[in-house]
Amino acid sequence: MTQRDDNLPEKGSVDLQPDVERIHRAIRREPGDPTEGREPAPWFFVATIAVSLFWGGWYLGQHGGEFSTRTHLAMSSRDAGTAASAANQNTLAIDDPVAAGQAVFEKHCVACHQGNGLGIAGAFPPVIGSEWVTGEAEVLVRILLHGMQGPVMVAGAPYNGAMPAWRDVLQDPELAALATYLRQWDSNDASPVDAATVSALRAETAGRTAAYSADELR
Ligand code: HEC
Repeated sequence: MTQRDDNLPEKGSVDLQPDVERIHRAIRREPGDPTEGREPAPWFFVATIAVSLFWGGWYLGQHGGEFSTRTHLAMSSRDAGTAASAANQNTLAIDDPVAAGQAVFEKHCVACHQGNGLGIAGAFPPVIGSEWVTGEAEVLVRILLHGMQGPVMVAGAPYNGAMPAWRDVLQDPELAALATYLRQWDSNDASPVDAATVSALRAETAGRTAAYSADELR
């Protein structure tokens, strides 16, 4: 005869019908288990990428300088005012002033003075056959650094316009190369200009903000 196991609970002493309602309520309160899968990226993540791409493209468009080394070298002089950038005015090494001067002219000057250097009658004076170009080098450099404005006679014809300043755009070696190129272009036949001459004039006229008038330069 087998003995009854007294450790077994008496029938009816244990709740064999648990409170299903209560357990389900507890389960429903739990957050869902994480699952693996292709969840959509959060909108702010997508928006951040879109904005960065857009800004990057815009910035490159504004400051890319057409991906030309020349532009970037010229731009390094733009943060004018600091001692470092002032010292940098003379660091650009130019092997062939005439070629470099021509490149600068074609980039910055042809819009007004035209590709043939003859300007447009009544509006933009010629640089070929101009006494301002082939005269005293110092006068030409002053015009290039600070611009020129007001009535002027060039090669026997009157002009009255405004020529922009280049002091913040072009470094001294570029300005020297440009001046040299202009002074020896086509029928022009005058002495070359070196960067030291430009640097000296830049320093001498450092406080200047206005363009020169022809009277002032004469
Ligand atoms: C926005 C048009 C414009 C641009 C760009 C321009 N110039 Fe001029 N330039 C003029 C005008 C206008 C004058 C005459 C100013 C006056 O009437 O007093 C002039 C005058 C000059 C003169 C003295 C007169 C003469 O023709 O010899 C020189 C030299 C000169 N510019 C060179 C340059 C060079 C080099 C560049 C490029 C770095 C340049 N200019 C860019 C409009 C321009």
